[in-house]
Formats: sequence, C-alpha cells, structure tokens
Amino acid sequence: MSGTSIDAIDAVLIQISDQISIIDSHSIQIPQTLKDTILGLCSSGENEIQRAFKLDRELGHLFADAALALCTKTNTPPNTISAIGSHGQTIRHAPHGKNPFSLQIADPNTIAERTGITTVADFRRRDIAAGGQGAPLVPAFHEDVFKDGNNNRAIINIGGMANITLVPKSDMPTLGFDTGPGNVLLDYWVYKQKNQKFDYNGEWAASGKIDTSLLNTLLSEPYLTLQPPKSTGRERFNSDWLEHQLLNFSHLSTVDVQATLTAFTCQTITDAVAMCNSKLEPSDLVKEIYICGGGAKNGDIMSRLQTRLPNTKVASTNEIGIAPDLVESVAFAWLAHRTINRLSGNLTSVTGAQAQRVLGAIYCGN
Ligand SMILES: Nc1ncnc2c1ncn2[C@@H]1O[C@H](COP(=O)(O)OP(=O)(O)O)[C@@H](O)[C@H]1O
Ligand SMILES: [Mg+2]
Repeated sequence: MSGTSIDAIDAVLIQISDQISIIDSHSIQIPQTLKDTILGLCSSGENEIQRAFKLDRELGHLFADAALALCTKTNTPPNTISAIGSHGQTIRHAPHGKNPFSLQIADPNTIAERTGITTVADFRRRDIAAGGQGAPLVPAFHEDVFKDGNNNRAIINIGGMANITLVPKSDMPTLGFDTGPGNVLLDYWVYKQKNQKFDYNGEWAASGKIDTSLLNTLLSEPYLTLQPPKSTGRERFNSDWLEHQLLNFSHLSTVDVQATLTAFTCQTITDAVAMCNSKLEPSDLVKEIYICGGGAKNGDIMSRLQTRLPNTKVASTNEIGIAPDLVESVAFAWLAHRTINRLSGNLTSVTGAQAQRVLGAIYCGN
C-alpha cells in the first residue's frame, strides 16, 4: 500500500482463516526525490507517458522490495504466500464526467516476476467500469472486520485524504465516502515552512491559533457539501488549491496556518460524522469513532476531534484489534483474498457502482 501522502510503501503479512491474523509488517520510506517524481505525475505535464511508465517499473521494483524484505524479516519463503494485494500509487483519480478513470501504478508484472508470488492489482477500475467512483474501497473491509451488533460505529482513515465508514449495527447498508484532505495539506505546509516531512504529533499545529476567517474560507470548498457517493484526491486538494485559499491571508503567521489546516481536517471529519448521523435514528447515533492511518499518530488531530465530538468516544483502531498504520494495507491484502476467491470487493452503497464486482486483475506467480 502507498497512499496519497506518498510517505512510504507499507507491506503487511497476514493469514486469513475465520479471522485475520497479522503476522508482521515492513515499510520502505519514499525518499523526497522519488516523492517529487510521483508528484510530478499527479497533474498534467510534458512527456507523461514516458515518465509514467518508467515510474511504473521503478515503483514495481520498490513494491517487490517491500514484499521480499517482509518475507526475509518473517522467515517466510515467498512460495508459501498465496497472493500479494497491491494497491499501487495513485497518480490520477478522476471519477467524474465522461469516461471517468483512476490510475494506480507500480507494475504488478514486475512485482509477480521479482517475488514469484501471484499479485492482484488494479482494484479500482472495475468498480468505475460498473458505474462507481472506484473509491473508497476500504469500507467493505471495515464492515467485515469492525461490525458490532450493539453500536453504530464510524471508522475514519486519516491518510493523505481522509475517508469515513459508517458501520451500522443493523443490516442497513454501510456508508462511506472521502471526507476531504487528511494530512496532505499539513504535510505540504510544514515541509514548505520548516522542511519537515510531517508535523510530528501535531506539535507545531498545537502551538498555533485557529483563524476563523481562513477556516471558513477553506470550509467553503464545494466538495465538502456534496452528497455521497463521493471521492477525492490530489487533483482537488493540492498545493495550488491551498496557495489560492491563502491569497488573502498573508498576514497570518505560518504556525496559525498550520493550526487552521489541522482544524480544517478535523471539522470536515466531524461534519462527515454528522452527515452519517443524519441517516440514523436520533436515539441511535454513532457513539464511537475509531481512527486509523497516519493521522491517528497526530495527538493534536486526536484531541481536536474529541473536543469537537464531546459525546462520542474517539480512539484509535488499536482498541478494536488492528494497529492504525496497518488497517489500509490489511484491507488490500483482504481485497486480494476476495479476488482470488472470486468474491466481490466493492460496496454499491459506498462507491455507487451498479452491482458488486470481483475487483482487480490477477498476475500469476511462478
Ligand atoms: N507521528 C506522527 N505525527 C503526526 N503525523 C504523522 C505521524 N506519523 C504519520 N503521520 C502522518 O501520516 C501520514 C501518513 O499516513 P498514511 O496513513 O500512510 O497515509 P497514506 O495512506 O496517504 O499514505 C504522514 O504523511 C503524516 O502526515
Ligand atoms: Mg502512507
């Protein structure tokens, strides 16, 4: 797995029987030069085909390196692994208009060739072909592993973008959608101002003050009030978008901008919780939300969420059995397992596809 933060390639080794056991994980950090190359392909530019397909091969090797390093770390012969589920690296997500598409690269042929392991990839495009947004795909996994018959729960993944899953206690359909930016604007700003890859534990943001006027400007982004199904990415929430929003706010200190961006992420998430609650009986609203993704390690985000949701328990997914930084990688291993077993991986109530489909393509191992 590598998400829109473009921070690392995360590999996890799991065993699926009646339950999922997590054996171990391994991450390869993405160096800044490679991140810049990937970012250079996230918007239109010169000689795209050549650059994209060369990067596809390079990332294929890096994803294979992550899988093989995990095999070595765990003493697992690659030929004992049933399959790799590879999300790839998104370089374009365009789920609207005529001929919508979503593009993830990290050549699965290279991963299968280097590891000898059957590799499942390209999960999103079948859902789009079936009329869906191709995203988010993790809600099906959240429903499978985190459903609780007693409580309506929300699972919130705060990666580069953030997405919410409402896992109802009843058999009403699971809901899910991208809430907007998670860490992507925070990472951009702290890198620009302090040359840091991210705001460790949100400490810099926590030392600033929220500017209400800037916060309201950010909150006026039309995506936020769209009804689901909806999904988004760096095509919308990127450095150009942020710099444009900041045009009239050059008087603010850089730390107050960071505090306001963090408040923006938290407000869009709490608004999304409210949107989910509007589908539930007033007597039975979401009582607990569990956070996963890198945002769960940001103490400032966690405490701002708890402050904004005083009657709701806010905790990390650790409390319900999966470490927050592993949830998304486990989800794509689970999706690969679904595909290999000819089981559907999408939820029509989430992506808007006309039917459930077996997702992805299978690249055979040796
Ligand atoms: N200790 C931490 N403190 C604050 N933020 C963190 C910490 N660890 C990770 N993050 C944030 O999480 C991001 C990575 O989250 P991740 O779930 O991997 O996102 P993605 O799926 O988009 O790659 C980092 O870019 C950073 O913003
Ligand atoms: Mg990541």
